[in-house]
Amino acid sequence: MTLYDRSAGIYDPWSRSVTEDVGFYVDHALASGGPVVELAVGTGRIAVPIAEAGISVIGVDSSHEMLAVARAAAESAGVVGLVDLRVGDLREPPVSERVPLAICPFRSLLHMETEPEKLHALAAARKLLEPEGRFVFDVFAPSREDIEETHGRWLEREPGIFERADWDEGSRTLALSVRSGDAQATFGLHWLSAPEWLRLLDEAGFDVLELYGWFDSRPFDGEEDMVFVCRRRG
Ligand SMILES: C[S@@+](CC[C@H](N)C(=O)[O-])C[C@H]1O[C@@H](n2cnc3c(N)ncnc32)[C@H](O)[C@@H]1O
Repeated sequence: MTLYDRSAGIYDPWSRSVTEDVGFYVDHALASGGPVVELAVGTGRIAVPIAEAGISVIGVDSSHEMLAVARAAAESAGVVGLVDLRVGDLREPPVSERVPLAICPFRSLLHMETEPEKLHALAAARKLLEPEGRFVFDVFAPSREDIEETHGRWLEREPGIFERADWDEGSRTLALSVRSGDAQATFGLHWLSAPEWLRLLDEAGFDVLELYGWFDSRPFDGEEDMVFVCRRRG
């Protein structure tokens, strides 16, 4: 059982206010024509709107429980025929198809603890792509202000759902805890700087077409959020 299995029931209420990335990923899916592979598809927060736009999605996730929520969401949106959910690790995705677009939204690559693991995940994403195919994902690296404002404090993120960030700048790890009623889970997120991501992407065989600072496509200017649009090289 993964940590996300234990949190699948509160994931959607917890991330209810995260909507700014949905249109961005749907637009990329439409531009690609599909099908799209979403690595770490979770509860289908992005995959279901992509399917609602008429594009088929293969979603991979290591959590059975998150996928069960995604399946129910696809059913209630009437798009179950366009959403193919598969249990698996994003470093070895159970996908033999080659697609024009792979995505990994909402900082999921930061679940990869080390640089070699991140590189493994990037190489796996590249393998999914047709020649010239795109890989689009977002990550973050915290600002000093963010660390100072949030470190070690329980904050009510949504009614009855509390979140706490414990930042370790030495190991560059965020221990992100979520608590709702009696349930509590802590996730590790392992950040890198933009130049480090650019180096790994180059090593994995990607050309970076765009590096945005937010989902409105503003250029990255050293902010916390990084949104990469990459093209498979070769
Ligand atoms: C922050 S959620 C993102 C879900 C979804 N992409 C979204 O935007 O809402 C992270 C997801 O990554 C999945 N995950 C974590 N490590 C994974 C791995 N090694 N392979 C596949 N999925 C993984 C978790 O189960 C969880 O569903």
